[in-house]
Amino acid sequence: MHACRSSVLFVDWNGSLFVYITLALFLVHNRNHQYCLLPLLICSLFISACTKDERVIPEPSVIYANTDLAVKYVGSKVCASCHAEIYDTYSKSEMGRSMSKMEKANIVERFPQQGSVYDSTNNVHYQVVERNGRYYQREYRQDGKGKTTHERLVKIEYVMGSGNNLRMYFFEESGMLYEMPLTWYVHKQAWDFSPGYKEFGNLRFTRYARPRCIQCHNSYLRPSATANDRYEKPFTLGIGCERCHGPGELHVRERTGEKLNLPDSTRTIVNPRKLAPTEQLDVCRQCHLQGNAWVLRNESGWFDFRPGTKLETHRSVYFPSKTKKEVFEVADSPHRLSLSRCFKESNGALTCIGCHNPHFSIKTFSMEHYSARCMNCHKPETLPGKDAKHEHSPTDNCISCHMNRTGTDKTLHGVSNTDHWIRVDANKTDIDWTSLRKPLDQQPLIALSPDVDADDDGVELRRGMAYLDYHNDHDRRGAYLDSAIAYLRIGVGRRPYDGGGWFALGAAHLEKGASQDAAAALRRAVGADPEKDQAYSLLGKAYEMAGNITDALGQYRNSLKLKPKDPSYLEQLGSVLIKLGRWKEAIAALDSAIAIDQQSPSALYALGSVYAVELGNPAIGIEYFKRVLAIDPDMPNVHMNIGNCYAMMGDYAKAIREYKTEISLQPQSADVLANLGRVYELTGRKAEAKNAFEQSLKIDPGSRVAREYLRQIK
Ligand code: HEC
Ligand code: HEC
Ligand code: HEC
Ligand code: HEC
Ligand code: HEC
Ligand code: HEC
Ligand code: HEC
Repeated sequence: MHACRSSVLFVDWNGSLFVYITLALFLVHNRNHQYCLLPLLICSLFISACTKDERVIPEPSVIYANTDLAVKYVGSKVCASCHAEIYDTYSKSEMGRSMSKMEKANIVERFPQQGSVYDSTNNVHYQVVERNGRYYQREYRQDGKGKTTHERLVKIEYVMGSGNNLRMYFFEESGMLYEMPLTWYVHKQAWDFSPGYKEFGNLRFTRYARPRCIQCHNSYLRPSATANDRYEKPFTLGIGCERCHGPGELHVRERTGEKLNLPDSTRTIVNPRKLAPTEQLDVCRQCHLQGNAWVLRNESGWFDFRPGTKLETHRSVYFPSKTKKEVFEVADSPHRLSLSRCFKESNGALTCIGCHNPHFSIKTFSMEHYSARCMNCHKPETLPGKDAKHEHSPTDNCISCHMNRTGTDKTLHGVSNTDHWIRVDANKTDIDWTSLRKPLDQQPLIALSPDVDADDDGVELRRGMAYLDYHNDHDRRGAYLDSAIAYLRIGVGRRPYDGGGWFALGAAHLEKGASQDAAAALRRAVGADPEKDQAYSLLGKAYEMAGNITDALGQYRNSLKLKPKDPSYLEQLGSVLIKLGRWKEAIAALDSAIAIDQQSPSALYALGSVYAVELGNPAIGIEYFKRVLAIDPDMPNVHMNIGNCYAMMGDYAKAIREYKTEISLQPQSADVLANLGRVYELTGRKAEAKNAFEQSLKIDPGSRVAREYLRQIK
């Protein structure tokens, strides 16, 4: 069917590929989040010995040898051999159980599930099923007669969440963790879509856990040296002891009798209680200070923070400039606490461990426990007396009036949290879900200010990066991009040697579609930091956008030199090789991508296109396109391409069937109508052909293809 190939029958093989890749990148990057705290105090045990009250005078001259990045992690099990009691209680705490394997022994969910969770927009059902002690999320679609027309079964490997509030599920492929569509909502005792899936659209099985998410919910993982966002197995699961105490290698060597010859003022392990107030808070703030944007400092990696150091040496954290009394964000207790007069006027005496003992589950503590903490500072005789709105007694439940609870009624997902801004305020506090609840254009724009930051010549640069982060993660309105670019320009002016700054500026320009500006900034980025693989990849993208395919190819190769097994780089390489007509090399690159990431419909799509169109092998093309459909039954143009393949093979009946399916998915596609018309014409069905060409022309009056065929028919 070479005639078909040279005619302009097959419209849009690769154009849609580019669109799809961009779309996938965008979808994967939406952050959102929900959590809640079950205000249940199942066992209201009063353990006062748990939280010690004596303040230890910080030892300012002490050096913590395990803040050095070279000191190794040993894992919590090693600590257990000497600190068995702590290990035991900690393993039962929420943090100790924050992430685990999905196993029968630790399930809190109810099985079997009644019915399914239905996405009416995309017409797909979801279910969680148990089979022989294994758990799966099942995606399926049924036709009008109840026949299953699409099914995908994915095994749940890991679960995030101790079970107090929500549980989210992950599967793993080549070291990458992917989130799954259904979440268990503990308060509702029900399955529903994962947070963000209703608000941003069904992300299905495509959303992966980024390092930020992992560093807050688990022990550090070992990043792959050859690809981004992938980790070496086996994974250490749960938040381990060393996240609060620092790596244990030296301490264990010391305690097992080795002479380390360290100076007297040096310690091998961090006891948070002995740290100065800021450093002590920072142990908790590394995970409990979510904010609206984060910027890593200098060359820091996601897993580089060490207890005993200041958080600001690792990252800056940004909040909206205007604080609202009545709303707060989740996972921001340190920010709220810092607004309290108790915090501001007690000279560092009020830290998290004044009220919480992280070695125990939060359910261990009663409200009397917390009220007693208040009374450490507030003496009975100073509390408001008879004339006040409330006559205080030292045995009051102080929390019920001075630390607002959100309740579960107004929040999404039935979430409840404690406002840590201690104050006199009868009004209820709410969690700020505006970024999820309202359409973006109805939300007021916010300015970002740092809660944690350093005072140096990188202030503007980091603020610019924060706006870019906020734009990419929360709110894609142009104003944030403009702010990012304005600050970044000032920033790189002050720090022209900063590769990270140029990279962010380049990324921001690219988001705006300004490929020349982007390329200029990214060339500076790779000049300043030749090891930054992402910079080469973006530079390639900027060149590709500007139509400079050869240079794009060079840059993609550069990014692959640094991360040779990154499937997105391999896919980028494959796609420019296609544009250059180098089919064999393109296939090799795409095959390598697929070997690592079998979930990538865009790579499979590209392979299908090369085989069918360029190598004239429609049968293999169909195989690839069918693999795409197994992953994403609605991906645009796939049925059309299968139809094209059948047409090439002369199987017109099947071609027509596929085109009709495509039309049901994309009624406004002029291309598929033109292709349908062409096949009708080839089979002598003139009237239908004419009709199809006319419809195609109506949608796209500029289509030369349809016009030409129509003229021929007449
Ligand atoms: C071989 C036994 C041993 C192992 C293994 C061990 N420790 Fe210790 N650890 C000790 C001893 C002994 C002390 C000092 C006595 C004490 O304070 O209980 C200590 C003290 C500590 C302290 C208090 C330090 C201070 O300055 O107050 C912390 C914190 C600590 N260990 C954490 C850990 C962690 C985390 C691990 C695992 C990475 C670990 N330990 C592994 C024996 C051990
Ligand atoms: C800044 C650190 C941070 C980041 C980033 C973060 N979380 Fe959380 N998350 C927390 C903290 C802290 C809690 C417990 C918070 C609370 O109740 O205030 C929590 C709660 C949760 C819970 C509920 C656990 C329970 O209590 O039952 C789930 C599930 C969860 N997060 C999943 C995620 C996922 C998935 C991501 C990444 C997409 C993520 N989180 C990103 C810090 C973070
Ligand atoms: C979420 C943070 C966090 C985690 C995780 C954590 N600890 Fe601690 N640890 C602390 C804090 C805070 C203190 C100081 C407690 C105090 O003095 O009230 C402490 C104190 C200690 C001490 C000093 C002695 C004592 O009893 O106070 C030891 C030993 C210790 N932890 C061992 C461990 C071990 C072993 C694990 C893991 C099984 C662990 N910790 C996990 C925060 C943590
Ligand atoms: C490695 C990140 C990390 C660090 C460090 C950390 N936390 Fe947490 N914390 C979490 C996460 C995640 C949860 C939610 C766990 C869950 O329920 O799945 C949590 C839960 C809690 C809870 C119980 C809330 C609940 O119901 O789940 C308390 C209280 C708490 N943390 C206090 C602290 C204190 C105090 C510190 C500092 C000494 C600290 N945390 C350090 C990540 C961290
Ligand atoms: C570390 C010491 C400390 C602890 C613990 C503490 N406070 Fe305070 N609190 C203060 C200081 C200092 C002030 C400033 C006014 C004063 O001296 O009374 C204050 C002020 C207040 C105020 C007045 C707030 C305002 O905006 O005017 C309230 C209400 C209050 N505390 C309640 C509590 C409650 C309830 C707790 C326990 C949940 C608590 N405090 C724990 C030190 C503390
Ligand atoms: C003055 C006492 C006090 C201090 C200080 C304090 N908390 Fe809390 N915290 C509470 C109380 C009370 C609760 C609610 C406990 C419950 O419902 O069982 C709570 C609950 C939590 C929860 C569970 C989720 C929620 O919002 O209900 C987390 C997480 C938490 N605190 C983290 C922190 C961190 C991190 C710090 C330090 C920045 C901190 N807390 C400081 C009193 C305190
Ligand atoms: C039933 C609600 C309620 C309870 C319970 C309660 N308070 Fe209050 N508290 C108030 C109100 C209302 C005010 C404001 C009093 C006024 O303005 O007349 C107040 C004021 C305060 C103040 C500020 C006094 C000042 O100088 O402005 C402090 C401190 C305080 N409470 C601490 C506590 C502590 C500590 C407890 C627990 C032992 C507690 N409260 C329990 C309602 C309560």
